[in-house]
Amino acid sequence: MVTAFAPASVGNITVGFDVLGMAIANPGDEVTVQFNDRKEVRIVEITGDGGKLPLAAEKNTATVAIISLLQHLGSEQGMDVTIHKKMPFGSGLGSSSASAVAGAYAANELLGAPFTKNELITFALDGEAIASGGRHADNVAPCMLGGITLIRGYNPLDIITLPVPDNLHCSVIYPEIEILTKAAREILPKEVPMKDAISQIGNIAGFVSALYQNDLALLSRCMSDTLAEPYRATLLPDFEKVRNAALYGGALSFGISGSGPSMFAFSDSAAKAGQVGELMKKALDRQGVGNMVFVSKVNEKGVVII
Ligand code: HSE
Repeated sequence: MVTAFAPASVGNITVGFDVLGMAIANPGDEVTVQFNDRKEVRIVEITGDGGKLPLAAEKNTATVAIISLLQHLGSEQGMDVTIHKKMPFGSGLGSSSASAVAGAYAANELLGAPFTKNELITFALDGEAIASGGRHADNVAPCMLGGITLIRGYNPLDIITLPVPDNLHCSVIYPEIEILTKAAREILPKEVPMKDAISQIGNIAGFVSALYQNDLALLSRCMSDTLAEPYRATLLPDFEKVRNAALYGGALSFGISGSGPSMFAFSDSAAKAGQVGELMKKALDRQGVGNMVFVSKVNEKGVVII
């Protein structure tokens, strides 16, 4: 029997729509796998989902990832799968990716690790695709590999792990409202004005440069998004209030985590990140919106066996 923990992740990191993502320390999902003799992958239990997730193996991101892995091996081995959802879903924290990654990684370990983490990403993406309707890897890749990852290209998949500045800390707030990734993708324009593309290109290049140079002032200057945030912020009633609270607290940046509703801020120390988290929380508390705050450094390990 093998259990894997896969962490939550922040997709896009403001400047890298569909191409940048990072793992955070917690929350995360746990998936346990063990062999059965039924030649079938089946879900025996899901905890922590309030009964909302389907038990059918072909509908769950964890089991779809495991089935994809087994098919790739040409194996008919059956597995019993238990999923412990330990993070909110529909939250913009990569919950569907975390289950897919934990499932693929645990199954791989049980089989004697025939695949590397990089190879497992494709199977986890098959799982992710059934939840989000797309094969974007900005949650799956950092969740699997840890750290800050850049998806340089999708065809073929070309993933680069970027350096993480020592003092970079992250505060994430999840407001208890639901935004479906599909809906948050549909409101985006199909084409962007040249001036917006130019601004985004400059900022993502500056961001990558800032990571290599350990330059958090440069990083802060780069964290603005012309592609998604202007449209998606309209789905978040308290976006401006939380943003103001984070910046007042001294955050280096503020933006939407993935497709939302979670939002995140970077800070240059643990103390500041804690303070920023508290101020963001107070801003939502004042609006009567239930919320959860997670403060950590970037998680450089990614998925692990526990
Ligand atoms: N890059 C994706 C998006 C992440 O922004 O739609 C979804 O979590």
